[in-house]
Amino acid sequence: MEKLIIQGGTSLKGSLEISGSKNSSLPILAGMLLCEGKTTVANLPHLQDVTTSLELLGSLGVELSIDENRYVEADTRTVHSLATPPELVGKMRASILVLGPMLSRFGEATVSFPGGCAIGNRPIDLHIAGMESLGAEIIIEDGFIKASRKGRLRGATIILPFPSVGATENIIMAATLAEGTTRIKNCALEPEIIDLIKCLNAWGANISGAGTSSIVVQGVKKMDGGFFRVMSDRIETATYLAAAAATSGKIRTMRADPSNISAVLEKFRKTGGDLTFGVDWIELDMRGKRPKAVNITTGPYPCFPTDMQAQFTVVNSLAIGIAQVTETIFENRLAQVQELRCMGAKIALNNNVAVITGVPKLTGTHVMASDLRASAALVIAGVAAEGETTIDEIHHVDRGYECFEEKLHQLGAKITRLPS
Ligand code: UD1
Repeated sequence: MEKLIIQGGTSLKGSLEISGSKNSSLPILAGMLLCEGKTTVANLPHLQDVTTSLELLGSLGVELSIDENRYVEADTRTVHSLATPPELVGKMRASILVLGPMLSRFGEATVSFPGGCAIGNRPIDLHIAGMESLGAEIIIEDGFIKASRKGRLRGATIILPFPSVGATENIIMAATLAEGTTRIKNCALEPEIIDLIKCLNAWGANISGAGTSSIVVQGVKKMDGGFFRVMSDRIETATYLAAAAATSGKIRTMRADPSNISAVLEKFRKTGGDLTFGVDWIELDMRGKRPKAVNITTGPYPCFPTDMQAQFTVVNSLAIGIAQVTETIFENRLAQVQELRCMGAKIALNNNVAVITGVPKLTGTHVMASDLRASAALVIAGVAAEGETTIDEIHHVDRGYECFEEKLHQLGAKITRLPS
């Protein structure tokens, strides 16, 4: 396992280009399975999770090609397997997103229970109940979900008890080829879901209500496919802005849509930095000052995203004042707190609430990455801290940040990757 060595005490400055969205790419890659014709996707980030998704499609027999522009083309006419290899599914929770498309298009799917970040229990009951509502038969046996249908899936009204991102996406994809109309109520509103709907409609689906809590899918008999360019990654964008806030720096993110992260930008404004933005760029300039402490509570979109909670915990660790960080989406997503304490952060933890008393400096030491966003948070902390920080198990960060070290180098960070 590789590790990162960071020489800290750097105030990050400069501009960088934001990559394509991981959380938009993963459902869109699964959605390729719905199309009879060829599909081409542009702006896919070069990330471990995207590689895993491509391997998963390849294992089913999908013919994939990548050109010099990194456009990925898929042809599903060669699909020969309707069972996903557990070793691939175990690498990434989003693998469950192939369930709806495989079931709807090919009539059956066998998927093992998915893996992913160690941030909590993360059940998939809402995905399964959604498929059953559409008429699927689901058998759970020996750690596998075996889904099948007799005839086409049938449109239904599905009221989600919680606006799960993945369940909303899976149900939308299953419903695109179902007979009749599916109404998904209390669905998730995340921008990545809007991106998925735009993509599926471009490929021949008939879905309305994107970005509202009630999505209507009018089933179609087939989808021809086509071209789609995935949106920029709003969490990557906000992570670099957090790096500016924590290091009293000045960072401009290019190809970044400010309208997707209003709740996060509101918090950055409260840190006291100068926040400016245009249609496709955002800049945070801390003017060399420490941030002010800002309370945050995570929630489903449009609330503050859980995927930015760890990075903001670092900002608050170095802030002037006391802030409360409350995690409401996942039950075990404050793993970075223990590591930050080792670096000198003053954090009191009570279940899912962290009370952070900001300190003027953190000190480099040896820490361990535990999940994707916590790893990014530790890297930011290491860049801000005095002295040298070693971060073990850094592979987590490769799941979600394209060229993380290269982009941070561009901003002035001193980072080296070493084998353990
Ligand atoms: C997606 C994102 C992830 C983000 C999360 C919340 C992708 C690939 N991942 O994950 O980065 O942190 O949204 O914004 O897009 N739940 C159930 N039963 C289910 C499904 C979910 O109880 O069947 C619960 C989960 O345990 C969790 C909550 O719902 O407590 C939110 O999960 P969900 O919105 O489904 O997140 P993911 O789609 O897994």
